[in-house]
Amino acid sequence: MQAEKEQVREFWDAAPCGTRDTEDLEEEEQNLELERMRDEREPFIADFARFEEAQGKQLLEVGVGAGTDHLRFARAGAVCSGIDLTQAAVELTGRRLAGEGLSSNLRTADAEALPFADASFDLVYSWGVIHHTPDVPRAAAEILRVLRPGGRFCVMVYNLYSLVALQTWIRFALLKARPMTSLRKVIADNMESPGTQAYGAEEARSLFPVDSAQVDTRITAYDLRLGRRHFLPRWTWHLVPNSIGWFHIVSGSK
Ligand SMILES: C[S@@+](CC[C@H](N)C(=O)[O-])C[C@H]1O[C@@H](n2cnc3c(N)ncnc32)[C@H](O)[C@@H]1O
Repeated sequence: MQAEKEQVREFWDAAPCGTRDTEDLEEEEQNLELERMRDEREPFIADFARFEEAQGKQLLEVGVGAGTDHLRFARAGAVCSGIDLTQAAVELTGRRLAGEGLSSNLRTADAEALPFADASFDLVYSWGVIHHTPDVPRAAAEILRVLRPGGRFCVMVYNLYSLVALQTWIRFALLKARPMTSLRKVIADNMESPGTQAYGAEEARSLFPVDSAQVDTRITAYDLRLGRRHFLPRWTWHLVPNSIGWFHIVSGSK
C-alpha cells in the first residue's frame, strides 16, 4: 500500500469514525450513543440516504466506519455489501449487524479499487470517506463503475468554503502566525487523517461526470461548535446559510 494511504489506514484503524467519543462505554451503550450522536449532529442523513427506498435493492456502502448508516440500510431490508480500508471498521460494523440478526457482505478493501464487477449495485452510498483517500477522482470513478445504469449514488465530501474550514484556518494558520497557508493545506494537515481534501460545490459535482449529478450543501453541528463535544443548539443552524456548511452531498443516477 502506498505510504500516504497507509497513514490514512493507520489513523482510522486506531478508532473507527465516531468511536473516540464513545470509547469509555460498554458495547451496548456505545451502539446507542453512536446512533444518538448521528441523529444529533447529522440529522439530515436520512433525507439523502433514503434508507427505506433501499429495501430489496443491492446496496454498496463505501467506507462503513462504525457502521451506523449500514445498520440502517440493513434494517430497511437492503441487500447489503460494505467495504472499509480498516479491519477495525469492518469488524465493528459486522458485530453491530449481527447483534440485531442482520448481515452484510463486508470486506476490507480500498475505495480506489472496489472488488466488485461493473454495474453490480442499485445504490452506492459513501458518507465522509472518499475525501480521505489519496486519489479522490479514482474513488469517485469506482463508485460510478460499480453502479448499474439507472442506479443511484449518494456521496458526502467536505466543503472547502465552510465555517469548519475557516475555523481550522484561524486555529492552524492565523493563530500560528502563518496566514499565507491555504485553506486546502490546513485541511490536509489538520483534519482527521493526513491528506484530507475539501471541495468547492462545482468541484465536488464534477467528481461525478453524469448529467444528473447535483450538490446539496448542509450546515452541520460541526460548523457551530464550542469545543470538541459541545455544540450550539439546533435552532442556531437556521441563522447560517447552508451554503457554508461542512457537508456537500453529491447525488445522482448513472
Ligand atoms: C470519517 S470516517 C466515515 C465513516 C462512515 N461512513 C461514517 O459516516 O461514519 C472515514 C472512513 O473512511 C475510510 N476510508 C478512508 N480511505 C478509504 C479508502 N481508500 N477505502 C476505503 N475506506 C476508506 C476510513 O477507514 C474510515 O472508516
